[in-house]
Amino acid sequence: MVLISPWMEIKTWAETPNNGLSVRFTSSGKTDTCVLPNLWLYVPNGQAPTPFLPLGEFTAHYTGQILVDLRGDYTFQAELQGALRLEINGVTVLDATNSPSKAVKGNLVRLNKGTNAISVNYKSPAKDDAFFRVEWIPKEDQNYPIPSTSLTHDISGELQSSKAQARGRELFVENRCIKCHEGTGLVHGGMTELDYDAPSFEGIGSRRNFEWMRDWIVAPKKMRGSARMPQVFHGPDASKQAEAVAAFLSTLTTGTAAQKNLEPTADEIEGGKKLFADLHCVACHITPGVDEIDPLRNPLKHVGSKFSSGYLAKFMLAPDGDYSWSRMPKFHLKPEEAEQIAAYLVAGATQWEAKTPPTESALITQGQKLVQTSGCLNCHALKLPNQYASKALSDLTIDHWKGGCILTKPGSKAMNYQFSEKDQAALIAFAATDRESLKRHVGWEYAQRQQVNLKCVQCHGKFEGFPTFESIGSKIKPEWGASFIGGHITSKVRPWIDAQMPTFTKPAKVLAEGLSMLHGFPSKTPIEPAIDPELATIGQKLVSTAGGFSCISCHAINELGATQVFESAGINFGITAARLQKSFFHQWVRDPQSVDPATKMPDFFTPDDKSPLVDILDGDGIKTREAFWHYLRLGEKMPAPPLQP
Ligand code: HEC
Ligand code: HEC
Ligand code: HEC
Ligand code: HEC
Ligand code: HEC
Repeated sequence: MVLISPWMEIKTWAETPNNGLSVRFTSSGKTDTCVLPNLWLYVPNGQAPTPFLPLGEFTAHYTGQILVDLRGDYTFQAELQGALRLEINGVTVLDATNSPSKAVKGNLVRLNKGTNAISVNYKSPAKDDAFFRVEWIPKEDQNYPIPSTSLTHDISGELQSSKAQARGRELFVENRCIKCHEGTGLVHGGMTELDYDAPSFEGIGSRRNFEWMRDWIVAPKKMRGSARMPQVFHGPDASKQAEAVAAFLSTLTTGTAAQKNLEPTADEIEGGKKLFADLHCVACHITPGVDEIDPLRNPLKHVGSKFSSGYLAKFMLAPDGDYSWSRMPKFHLKPEEAEQIAAYLVAGATQWEAKTPPTESALITQGQKLVQTSGCLNCHALKLPNQYASKALSDLTIDHWKGGCILTKPGSKAMNYQFSEKDQAALIAFAATDRESLKRHVGWEYAQRQQVNLKCVQCHGKFEGFPTFESIGSKIKPEWGASFIGGHITSKVRPWIDAQMPTFTKPAKVLAEGLSMLHGFPSKTPIEPAIDPELATIGQKLVSTAGGFSCISCHAINELGATQVFESAGINFGITAARLQKSFFHQWVRDPQSVDPATKMPDFFTPDDKSPLVDILDGDGIKTREAFWHYLRLGEKMPAPPLQP
């Protein structure tokens, strides 16, 4: 039974700028304002609530509107550590302190059709993890997460200036400013992004074509709008310098001559086309052969000219091979599949004939010198002495941020990033802070930023049959999430879909932990009490077709296939307990459509949470699901359910 689905019609939270609530954090007299998707938060003890605030006790004031389609009565409830007061239209409806494992319920409140003012004041505990998760209970129903699309906020001046400094900090790390303007104690200990690398120069001459490298060095942003590399050379000699550098880079070969591809067959190209479609590359790239401009998706027209013959397929197998922080994720591909994709991409790319790079030794020597003296080696790895130095971050006083690498003036030696005016203003806003935020990794904030940067939300929620992203942080345990995002779990969760979840090796763990914290869960799942063998045995019966719910008609259990294979196949129960947060498990099994309105999984429980199997565990909904859970927790060791008599 569903009154309101929490996740219905969710665009993508990140795409709807007014969704979520405005939150003003205060700590040691300082304030910082952010937008959070919902009434959820987790800040581990001793960490900062936001990157711009010091560690320690804090308060958070959430404001905005809550929208409902129809007038109705609701109760709000919270699980929390710390103290929380929730007001609707100016009236306090929930006042709760420290109740981490049992939700505190508030008073019934009438929500008007349309918008209602919501305000939450939260205070962190003195010495403990700070967290809360608020849910609502529509009258005569059960508790649900509040749909994030029902929460909106106004954009205040305060919010805008906080957002600008946060954007400036993001630009600073994404563009690798730290590689030249160093600060003490920042790398390997501050923000994860301070460790970002760039493609290695070792052997680059074998992998990349001379002309493409030359054009890239002249103007990286012209070649790819989302390039992080600055334009290093400017002025009248820029093209010549880039040519010399590219000539030198072309000499850095691995010794093994690049293989000439045999002419790909039509079948190979066709196979590549199918893989491109099945794997949804289109989430992040323009389809080869299609004339389209989309700032969110990279074109692939240039791949014929960029990759030396044979190296495109190698790239597809390991995009992070020479560049560990590449934003291109890795797919689980067989070598022949990588060849097919390469054949398809090249067939759809701009036709191009490779020329041999110049070999004059004077040019190559000049190129080498430039590589050593222009700052390339601050970002790119190569076993050559780096003869480049620039100013430390602490020497970049605020008065200098109107020029330098923010807005490169003619004749300057600074890097040219071609920042928009808005981004220049953001960098200046960041420069005006104490810059200590570079030392603070804040889990929820990292996840909120990277889900956009890494384009998680370009795939999830965009294509049919993919799990929605909005629920991922409250659904998936961070340990399993880290393994899955990191590519350590190679078998599909949903074998019936052609798509795959691609691997993001480097960010996997911090991202999975951050997503949990963004949803009010700890970065490490607490250990549960031991499995109760009696309950597990009841669960074993409950899933069966012999007096149970016949869950196994759709769900496999490890090696045991589902008994009725049809289009609504469920996920293998063998992995469920390792994957799911227990609270999500309860919500899903109690009312699957409240999570995914289109799911084929049937409803088994009544609106007042009774099980139809009244003889088992008194037909109590919670107890019945607990029995499932204890059985599911046996994981790989789950015994087969009894067969129909
Ligand atoms: C989540 C987004 C995402 C998905 C999905 C994705 N890519 Fe990429 N891809 C990128 C990004 C970002 C880059 C640029 C890499 C960088 O330098 O960080 C890239 C780079 C590439 C390149 C190299 C182009 C260049 O100029 O360096 C190729 C080729 C490529 N992707 C092909 C594919 C194919 C084929 C698929 C599907 C199997 C795919 N990508 C799926 C994000 C994605
Ligand atoms: C601030 C760091 C930084 C500096 C300085 C820098 N690069 Fe880059 N470079 C990058 C990054 C990051 C990439 C990956 C593409 C992207 O996202 O921009 C890249 C990509 C490249 C590539 C393409 C490699 C590939 O396989 O895709 C070449 C070639 C290159 N840089 C050459 C140079 C040269 C030559 C210099 C010095 C003149 C230089 N870079 C200076 C960060 C830098
Ligand atoms: C490859 C090295 C390199 C990178 C990367 C780099 N810079 Fe610079 N930066 C320089 C150089 C060189 C100058 C010019 C200094 C001079 O003229 O003495 C400069 C100048 C500046 C200045 C002006 C300093 C002054 O005293 O006039 C600021 C501010 C600045 N950079 C900020 C940044 C920011 C922000 C980023 C990242 C978006 C960045 N830089 C990335 C090398 C770099
Ligand atoms: C190319 C499309 C694509 C992109 C980009 C993508 N995913 Fe996925 N993701 C999928 C697919 C497809 C599945 C389902 C896989 C399966 O069932 O085996 C999935 C599943 C997941 C799951 C497991 C959820 C569940 O219910 O089983 C998590 C967690 C996840 N993705 C996180 C992320 C994160 C974080 C990012 C961004 C860093 C991301 N995904 C980017 C396609 C994508
Ligand atoms: C008609 C087929 C069907 C039946 C019967 C069925 N389910 Fe499901 N189940 C599904 C589908 C479909 C999904 C969602 C798969 C997805 O996320 O893509 C699902 C998902 C689940 C999940 C989430 C699993 C995970 O790891 O993400 C659980 C738990 C679950 N079902 C439990 C049950 C239980 C318990 C029963 C019996 C009381 C049951 N199901 C009966 C089809 C079914």
